[in-house]
Amino acid sequence: MVKSGCKNATPVSMFIGGIAGMERVIQSDVEPPYLSLVTGPPGSMKTAFALSLISNHLRRTGEFGLYCTVEEPVESLLRTCQSMGIELPPNLQITDFTALRADNEAMDYLKFTKKMIDHFKQQRGPSFTCFILDSLGAIYSLTTVNEEMRKRMFGFFDYLRKQGLYTFIITERQTGEFAELEGNEGFLADAIINLGLDRRNGKIVRTLQFEKMRHIRHSMEKQAIDVAPGGVTIMGPLFD
Ligand SMILES: Nc1ncnc2c1ncn2[C@@H]1O[C@H](COP(=O)(O)OP(=O)(O)OP(=O)(O)O)[C@@H](O)[C@H]1O
Ligand SMILES: [Mg+2]
Repeated sequence: MVKSGCKNATPVSMFIGGIAGMERVIQSDVEPPYLSLVTGPPGSMKTAFALSLISNHLRRTGEFGLYCTVEEPVESLLRTCQSMGIELPPNLQITDFTALRADNEAMDYLKFTKKMIDHFKQQRGPSFTCFILDSLGAIYSLTTVNEEMRKRMFGFFDYLRKQGLYTFIITERQTGEFAELEGNEGFLADAIINLGLDRRNGKIVRTLQFEKMRHIRHSMEKQAIDVAPGGVTIMGPLFD
């Protein structure tokens, strides 16, 4: 169990309790600041995983969370949630960057994101505990990836850590690709949660695997995941 938000608050864990079946994968929970990368190929349920986890956490704690969607419009996110039985709590603010993308090609998204976080920190104080960026790849696709950008990304991750938040950065990653990614995010993150699709006996199985999780003893096995009432659920380890 972990203390979340301010000191002496009722202990509420983020991962265990946020996703059903998680207690079989990790032995204890994490404390903020904690920055997790959620990686995987298209359609591997990165968005659904992040929304399930955060919605369940915010509903239980009453804390405030900010979700920035850069490539998928909010209407589409809401449809995903409806289809998967994920109920979004009112204390989750979803901010849609997709329209901004169309309007302003030259926009500095990292700077804009920081400003938004600063705004909600000021407005919500310590009750603002969770931030999700969906996705980093979308931001990279709008900028030239060079040494300067890598430095800026390092600064951005450093900034996020200093905010004391649970942060989830969603990023595309093809099967077999290493998690260092464009700007060495894999080294900078506290956790790497890899979602995937495995082909077995002519069927596609959805999977989740913790590749890295600082401070926590965790299973390295691939887990089968599925959608159940309440969102993404861990079914159990996958055996070859
Ligand atoms: N009700 C449902 N039950 C089970 N699976 C579903 C359901 N609705 C959608 N899906 C699956 O979930 C996938 C979409 O999940 P999600 O949008 O979270 O993936 P993603 O990894 O974020 O994708 P992208 O890379 O496009 O952002 C769909 O492609 C579909 O296969
Ligand atoms: Mg997505």
